[in-house]
Amino acid sequence: MGIEEKNLEFEKLSESKKFILENLNFDKPDVGIILGTGLGGVADRIEDQVEIPYQKILNFPISTVKGHEGMLIGGKLSGKKVCAMKGRFHYYEGYDMGKVTYGAKLLCFLGIDTLIVSNAAGGLNPQFSRGDIMIITDHINLFPEHPLRGSSDERLGPRFTDMYNTYDKDLIKLAEVTALDTGIKVRKGIYLGLQGPTFETAAEYRMIRTIGADAVGMSTVPEVIVARWMGSKVLGLSIISDMGLPDALEPINHEMVLKASIEAEPKLSELVINIVERL
Ligand code: HPA
Repeated sequence: MGIEEKNLEFEKLSESKKFILENLNFDKPDVGIILGTGLGGVADRIEDQVEIPYQKILNFPISTVKGHEGMLIGGKLSGKKVCAMKGRFHYYEGYDMGKVTYGAKLLCFLGIDTLIVSNAAGGLNPQFSRGDIMIITDHINLFPEHPLRGSSDERLGPRFTDMYNTYDKDLIKLAEVTALDTGIKVRKGIYLGLQGPTFETAAEYRMIRTIGADAVGMSTVPEVIVARWMGSKVLGLSIISDMGLPDALEPINHEMVLKASIEAEPKLSELVINIVERL
């Protein structure tokens, strides 16, 4: 995003917000959800749904991917007012960080208190297995571009953002207790975000593990950073779609990631619905 574009961010977000509020049944959502791989099922459980295609939202990034279904969904989930993004913009697709994070910024600008983000990730912790759900406790940002680089508008957030308690400790506890009560096994760990689109070499998986990560993926970190910048609490959840064990590495492709995510999706969706109920 160029400097001039960044200077206009507040105005652009205001226009997008105005448009969305004209279409929603409420003024301020409590919870924002980014339905990454593995949370699609949550969309079907949102009641009194209003669906707004991204391309209709003023100033929303235009998707260049064919057949990309991008939709903002407003409604009620477990009695809470939610706005969910179905479809996200990945850095590896070629979007700059302004576009990658526009949706998350808009959710925060609409006034959410809590952002729930999900993804599929490669597991590095040898105690994990494919299909596990991991509550993200922290992240390591290895994206080559920072979403907050450039001019900073104090109306949106501070110049220097504290990343203390980025993955909210109370929300982590709530997620753990909810998982226990609903009989869903969860892991906890650190997510490392990088640009992709290649999966990692054995040497890279080893390095990523060595520097402290339990899982690795190509999303989430940019959106979480802007959410913290704008003051929303964050809960992050990963589906471990494959294992990146450097000494026992097996071939991996996107279909395998999707298959594992689809299999784990019902339990992750159930967990999120129950967490939202307890917020
Ligand atoms: N590496 C990076 N991103 C991923 C992986 C992985 O192994 N699995 C799912 N997303």
